[in-house]
Amino acid sequence: MATVLITGASRGIGRELADQYAADGWEVIPTCRDPAGAGMNDAVKLDVTNSEDVCDLAMYLKDRPIDVLINNAGVIGQRDSAIGTIDYALWEEVFRVNTLAPIRVAEAVVENVAASDCKKMVFVSSIMGSIASNGGGHYLYRSTKAALNAAMVSLSLELSLRGVICVSMHPGWVRTDMGGPTAAVAVPDSASGIRRVVQRLSSTDNGRFFDYTGDEIPW
Ligand SMILES: NC(=O)c1ccc[n+]([C@@H]2O[C@H](COP(=O)([O-])OP(=O)(O)OC[C@H]3O[C@@H](n4cnc5c(N)ncnc54)[C@H](OP(=O)(O)O)[C@@H]3O)[C@@H](O)[C@H]2O)c1
Repeated sequence: MATVLITGASRGIGRELADQYAADGWEVIPTCRDPAGAGMNDAVKLDVTNSEDVCDLAMYLKDRPIDVLINNAGVIGQRDSAIGTIDYALWEEVFRVNTLAPIRVAEAVVENVAASDCKKMVFVSSIMGSIASNGGGHYLYRSTKAALNAAMVSLSLELSLRGVICVSMHPGWVRTDMGGPTAAVAVPDSASGIRRVVQRLSSTDNGRFFDYTGDEIPW
């Protein structure tokens, strides 16, 4: 039976991914900041920015194989940033969550993923991190997801020798707390699309950027 580890599984896309994989018979390791608060007592406590939590996760897993790591946790930060209004302290925090943390988590579980059958790492990014399609504004969110994409490519090259496949994934504009009620895509459709794309990933996809329908996104 395959195993998936998901960060930010308390709500939104992460929670739905956890539910769908479980319904499909996968072993799911959901992680979140506050398992009791999220009503997920089976989840592993993981604030992705907390290095102790990340070390504890690695110790908890020991040598358990992880077929698919989904680095899903993320924050939007400041929605209406513009020159003169930028919150630099918040920008640093958004970098910690959206950029540094997914790489730190990947680093912590790399042996578990490399020891699995599927060997896949998914970095939930955003089309808003695409420099090619930048429509302006959102300095914090766009830059942290663009940087995540760059780091993902470095990781994909480093881990390709071990057969690990890394991709960035845009989940669509999704009706979650982050996406808001007018977003185009329902949470179950985003999650099922992500799962379909992940299932089909092969070594030729390593280091690429896809959306939840499988279309490739320009950097
Ligand atoms: N919704 C969209 O339209 C959209 C579009 C493009 C990309 N994305 C990306 O998709 C991913 C999921 O977004 P979503 O729409 O499901 O957002 P959401 O409903 O706001 O959920 C965000 C999740 O991230 C978790 N999280 C935030 N900071 C964390 C931390 N320090 N440690 C651990 N978990 C943390 C939250 O946990 P708590 O409950 O503890 O806060 C929550 O589970 C994000 O990476 C986001 O950037 C979303």
